Amino acid sequence: MGKRDVNDLAWFGAAPLFDTPKSTSNLVQPEFDRFLAYAHPGLSAPGSVAKRFETRLAEFHDTEYCVSFCSGFWALAVTMVALARPGRREVVMPSLTYRRMADVVAWTGLLPRFCEVDEHTLAISADTAKACIGDDTALLLGVHPIVNCCDVEGLGELARQHDLPLMFDAVESVFETVKGGKIGRFGDAEVFSLHASKLINGFEGGYVTTQSASLAAKLFALRDGKGSERGAIDARLDDTHAAMALANLDDLEAQVERNRTRYLRYRDGLRDLQGVRLLNFDDAYPTSYKNIVVELLDDWQLSRSLTVEILNAERILARVYYWPALHTKPMAYPHIAANLPLTEELSKRFVLLPCGDFVTLEDIDACIALLSFLHRHAAEIVERAESKEQG
Ligand SMILES: Cc1ncc(COP(=O)(O)O)c(C=O)c1O
Repeated sequence: MGKRDVNDLAWFGAAPLFDTPKSTSNLVQPEFDRFLAYAHPGLSAPGSVAKRFETRLAEFHDTEYCVSFCSGFWALAVTMVALARPGRREVVMPSLTYRRMADVVAWTGLLPRFCEVDEHTLAISADTAKACIGDDTALLLGVHPIVNCCDVEGLGELARQHDLPLMFDAVESVFETVKGGKIGRFGDAEVFSLHASKLINGFEGGYVTTQSASLAAKLFALRDGKGSERGAIDARLDDTHAAMALANLDDLEAQVERNRTRYLRYRDGLRDLQGVRLLNFDDAYPTSYKNIVVELLDDWQLSRSLTVEILNAERILARVYYWPALHTKPMAYPHIAANLPLTEELSKRFVLLPCGDFVTLEDIDACIALLSFLHRHAAEIVERAESKEQG
């Protein structure tokens, strides 16, 4: 039901807008029979579905090799171990990123060296990374942001100039293409996740793409737990997960079309709403249209935390975008202190809104109508919220 006055907000005790929560996770599901057909219970040799999935993904990303993993986290960690320059310790990486990225680096025994992001892409770029490169740099870690891609070509050039290994976290860019080609083909390796919240849902899982035969061989060996070096862990992708991911891969083009329809609904609906700016997908090349991210501008009068609380009370599971920035978090492991004012400012401005197949066009209309209501009634809400807090 729509809101007529401020008393109708769930945050003030009224009934929520939605019966079922509206998530910012993808949670895409394949046809069940297709999943079963790939899973072939009891019929195929262990590991054969995962192998088939790797072949399909290498074709999909237009790369020579694909190595599957049990999760994106372990795919990242093992790839870092395989690529880092021996004898050096620092990984140059953004701070405005996935909340566990510094944990991954710490697990490998390396040190996170956080760099600024570009104001427009919200991502690491050659310019922002350059300032952090030194004699102890072991690896450059580019991370694609939640909407669009980071500067793959610039970072590639920087890595070549300094003769450094370069890997990408491409978890949010599975379907993207940039001027130089498909994501998956850049740097020494690119890493992806198959978590249910991501574009290809394999329940859980991850994979790495690379053009290098020697790196692929090393990743396979470490992933299978061969050897005694750090990174040699059994981190194989289970066949049931691979079957789920294969079934979702079959549906990917159709899913992207559904994502596009939802994104366009948001874009049209938010166009005239003051105080909120939707991050637009750059559709000069193929893109996933999956994540819906808005910036709360200076004329949005509610604080971001209050906005998110109010939306959550309505069962709109909006989330803040990469906050707190990693370099501002207390850390129990060695890292390099950083002063990153732009990252800190940007980490306070963005919000993710519901997306994925469980969100209908009517749900989107209702979310937009609620945001518009909040904008119109902002002054009264702030006043009521202050007295709620005091008493
Ligand atoms: C950017 C990014 N990198 C890595 C990961 C880790 O992937 P996984 O959940 O498969 O371990 C995530 C998960 O949310 C992510 O968002």
